[in-house]
Amino acid sequence: MQTQDCDTQRDRFAQGKPLWARAIATPATEFGPTSLPLLSGQVPTGLRGTLYRNGPGRLSRQGQTVDHWFDGDGGILAVRFGPEETTASYRYVQTQELQTEEAKDQFLYSGYGQMAPGPLWKRWGVPPKNVANTSVLALPDKLLALWEGGNPHALDSITLETHGLETLSGLTAKLTYSAHPKRDPQTGTIYNFGVIFGPKTYLQIYCSHASGDIDRQASILLPGLSLVHDFVLAGRYLVFIVPPLRLQMLPVMLGTKSLSDALQWQPHQGTQIIVIDRDTFEEVTRFETDPWFQWHFGNGYEDTVGHIVLDYVRYPDFQTNQWLKEVVTGYPQTPALGMLWQLHINPQTGQVLQNEQRFSLGCEFPVVSPLETGQETTALYLTHHSHSQQPVEEMFDCIARIDSQTSGVVSMAFPSGCYPMEAIYAPDPTSSDQGWLLTVVFDGNQDQSTVQIFSADQLDAGPIAVLGLPEIIPFGFHGTWQAAE
Ligand SMILES: [Fe+2]
Repeated sequence: MQTQDCDTQRDRFAQGKPLWARAIATPATEFGPTSLPLLSGQVPTGLRGTLYRNGPGRLSRQGQTVDHWFDGDGGILAVRFGPEETTASYRYVQTQELQTEEAKDQFLYSGYGQMAPGPLWKRWGVPPKNVANTSVLALPDKLLALWEGGNPHALDSITLETHGLETLSGLTAKLTYSAHPKRDPQTGTIYNFGVIFGPKTYLQIYCSHASGDIDRQASILLPGLSLVHDFVLAGRYLVFIVPPLRLQMLPVMLGTKSLSDALQWQPHQGTQIIVIDRDTFEEVTRFETDPWFQWHFGNGYEDTVGHIVLDYVRYPDFQTNQWLKEVVTGYPQTPALGMLWQLHINPQTGQVLQNEQRFSLGCEFPVVSPLETGQETTALYLTHHSHSQQPVEEMFDCIARIDSQTSGVVSMAFPSGCYPMEAIYAPDPTSSDQGWLLTVVFDGNQDQSTVQIFSADQLDAGPIAVLGLPEIIPFGFHGTWQAAE
């Protein structure tokens, strides 16, 4: 065993927690524009633009920890790759709720898994806290911090100053806007949706101009109170896959259960697949298939005979939600591995044609080049567990490229105690089939976060540049790349 591995093991034994837990042990520290030291390699001259990432920056206050990882206050990291230097900033999204809690220095609101303190009746009719912590959408004149339970927050793209809730000229306070919008790479048109709870549950689907302003919207009835986190743009279609989860509304309304705890896994309901024509928003087909749960899709496309092909990370049940809840303890114990699957469906007949696992290791955060959204891709990228990891308690320690034609896998394993977040694809403006993968890595041995750049088609060559960040960046969820004008 190498010395570094021995040190890692000793540290783990001493603390009883895996090293990644250090990254979320204390609230993130904000910092303004800071020049990043180049620790190794060289930043490619063609890489010009900004990497934005979002995630729960604050999980505790006055010794109290939130009840679910999804309830941490959103913090935005912006890394700007300029001609002279690379700089970074980190700012919390200044939601109204965060400012109120800051003023009293205590948690006051219910959330996805969090229950507000105090008597039961004080929770009645109070909406959950908008934590603005899940992803970002970079628009020409603003940055949106996204959270699927409410409206997005608008931020200044440069300073990360929060301007407030954003309607995109079409959202009302009752409408929600998910954290997984899809942008057509040819037209810039943006598609998204929200799940609207009420006497009837429905998907509100949106089509926006490249500016972000909503041009069209429509309502699609859902079979019940379920959780839909992501969707697929595939050629002419939008595909929604509704897992067999049902929300027990009464305990949520009475304030006796959180949303997270009130979601029941009901596999007998089956998974419902809904295909929508993206031009008319009319329903093309709707049918049921085997029960599974997914948070995320990789991408989708129409093949040469008009069938829809899509990649997703499949879980056998909803235990993944318990694992995500336990992340805040730094020592999750509930097994919940997601695996990459590929689904083929016939949108005309409403049939599953094929549904198979593509990759043998637990994984998440599938991404593709933004130039290939909705069409057949060259490759898919994801974060995954190495063979040697103990996945139940561990965060991912590898990133991989899976070739779409050959299914060949090229993987990059990080050193022991180092954990990459979701890898973001930045296209090379000088070569349409080339690009870079950008990821933020937490090194638990050094208590340091870095930004690492890889050639997307040569991951196993290691990072071509590593830049040091001035503070630890807690594990986050999603990000985006905005190329310089
Ligand atoms: Fe997500």
